[in-house]
Amino acid sequence: MILLDGKKVAAEKRANLREEITAITAKGHRAPSLVIIIVGHNPASETYVANKIKACDEVGIKATKIAYEADITEDTLLETVRRLNEDSSVDGFIVQLPLPEHISEAKVLTAIDYRKDVDGLTPMSMGRSVQGLPAIPSATPAGIRSLLEYYHIPTAGKHVVVIGRSNIVGKPMAIMLMQRPYLSLPGMSAASLGDATVTICHSKTEDLSSICRTADIIIVAAGCPNLLRGEMVKPGATVIDVGINRVEDPSSPRGYKLVGDVDYEHVALVAGAISPVPGGVGPMTIVSLLQNTLQAALNR
Ligand code: GUN
Repeated sequence: MILLDGKKVAAEKRANLREEITAITAKGHRAPSLVIIIVGHNPASETYVANKIKACDEVGIKATKIAYEADITEDTLLETVRRLNEDSSVDGFIVQLPLPEHISEAKVLTAIDYRKDVDGLTPMSMGRSVQGLPAIPSATPAGIRSLLEYYHIPTAGKHVVVIGRSNIVGKPMAIMLMQRPYLSLPGMSAASLGDATVTICHSKTEDLSSICRTADIIIVAAGCPNLLRGEMVKPGATVIDVGINRVEDPSSPRGYKLVGDVDYEHVALVAGAISPVPGGVGPMTIVSLLQNTLQAALNR
């Protein structure tokens, strides 16, 4: 069984990025710059944002955090988005999700200029990706694609089952894997994986087990601990766990532990390759954000 070690792969990719960015700044160009907007005090979001800023510091991307209290108005947030769209010192920016209920995520994401959308989550970025036009890829699916590439796990002709239909992971992941592979169109990073036969499953899917058992690759992004069990996996299949769930753990000093959507202990006995939680997809998502920021800076 191969452990898909996102922590290790991400560290290698950050080292490469650091070299690339050092070469750019050595030529007298300014460092790529990323702004991260966070609203409220969701503990998981605060941790993600801290990790993103730390990774930026490591590779030489200038990161700036804008933090708002949870009662900020939608208009104020939209004004900030419009200001960042126009600010030529900013190459890319993201709005950490989820947002408080009184703010429309759709409205905020739609307001972001897709050329600065380094999370790849705006309707323009996603629509352009669907049509095979140059666009910044969604960060988590791009990170999963890098992980598969790194471990030489082919997708062409394979049956990939994606569990989850979110705009952040499920939908863009499915599109990315079924696309014809493209190689370095202007404004796109090179990618060689695609050509998969993709099935998208979700909470209303009937007989999820039978569908999963026909999969060569299963990508689980449902936010549901232990959703994928050992008997649902074909021997030798690749399993990618995108879930990050906090479950109570009195033995931990924090009082909780992080688990994915996969019953790791049992699935690892059957799978040919599996990504752990933590240390699998999470660090790869952050590396994609860094790569997307560099790409946005170069595009400008
Ligand atoms: N919330 C959870 N994951 C993500 C992500 O990748 N980007 C943003 N903006 N918010 C998130």
